[in-house]
Amino acid sequence: MSAYDAIARLYDPWSVSVTEDVSFYVEEAKRAGGTVVELGVGTGRIAVPTVAAGVRMIGVDSSPEMLAVCRERAELAGVAELLDLRLGELEAPPVSERVALVTCPFRSYLHLLDDQARLRALRAARDLLVPGGRLVFDVFAPSAEDIADTHARWLEREHGIFERADWDSRERTLTLSVRGESGSTTFVLAWLSNDEWRALLERAGFQVLGCYGWFDRRPYAGGEDTVWVARRPT
Ligand SMILES: C[S@@+](CC[C@H](N)C(=O)[O-])C[C@H]1O[C@@H](n2cnc3c(N)ncnc32)[C@H](O)[C@@H]1O
Repeated sequence: MSAYDAIARLYDPWSVSVTEDVSFYVEEAKRAGGTVVELGVGTGRIAVPTVAAGVRMIGVDSSPEMLAVCRERAELAGVAELLDLRLGELEAPPVSERVALVTCPFRSYLHLLDDQARLRALRAARDLLVPGGRLVFDVFAPSAEDIADTHARWLEREHGIFERADWDSRERTLTLSVRGESGSTTFVLAWLSNDEWRALLERAGFQVLGCYGWFDRRPYAGGEDTVWVARRPT
C-alpha cells in the first residue's frame, strides 16, 4: 500500500502550479535519443508531455492508483502506446531494458529514508543505463526560513487543498500531510546536503556532470533546490 494511493485524484490539482521542471525534463528526454525510464512516474505530470513530444517511455511507480491516473491521462492525450507503465520500487525497478536516460523528477528520491535505501536506488538506476548514459533528478533541502514559516501549520496550497509540513531539523525529515475533497495522506521525506548527494552518487558508481540550482541550468549557488546530472562511466 502506497501513501500516494489515497491522493491519486488529488495529486494533479495539488501540484498544478509546479510547471517549472516540465520543459527541462522533456528537453532532456528528447536529447537522449531513445527510450527513457522515469522512476516515480506518478500521474505522468512529466511523462505525458514527454511522450506527447514523441519520446517512448517506461514509467515505474509503487502506487497502483497513481499509475491508473497516469494511464488515463496518456489515453486522453492519445499517447498511451508510447508509455509503458510498471508497478515497482525505486530500489528495484522492474526494467530489464538498458537506456541512455533515467530520470527521477520532483524530489521522489526524498522518499528514501536512509543511505542504504538511497544507495540501492542509485545503483539500480545506474544498472538501467548504458555506459555513458545519464541519471537526471532533482531534490531539495529546506532553508531555516522555510522551516520557521511553515512548521506545523495547515496552509491552503491550492483552492480547497491544504498542506501541513512538520519539520524535524535534527533528523532532517519532513512529515508532509495533504488533504482535499478527493483524498488525504501523510508521508515522510528525508533530505541531505549537496555534499552528501554527491558522495552517494560517486559511491553508486556515477560521475557527477552537473549540479544546477534550478531548471534553467544555472549553477548551484545556494538555495533549496538542486538538479543533478550524473553519468554512468563508459
Ligand atoms: C512527488 S511524486 C512525483 C511524481 C512525478 N514524477 C511528478 O514529477 O509529478 C513521487 C512519486 O514517487 C512514487 N514513489 C514514492 N516512493 C516510491 C518508491 N519507493 N518506489 C517507487 N515509487 C515511489 C510515488 O508513488 C509518487 O508517484
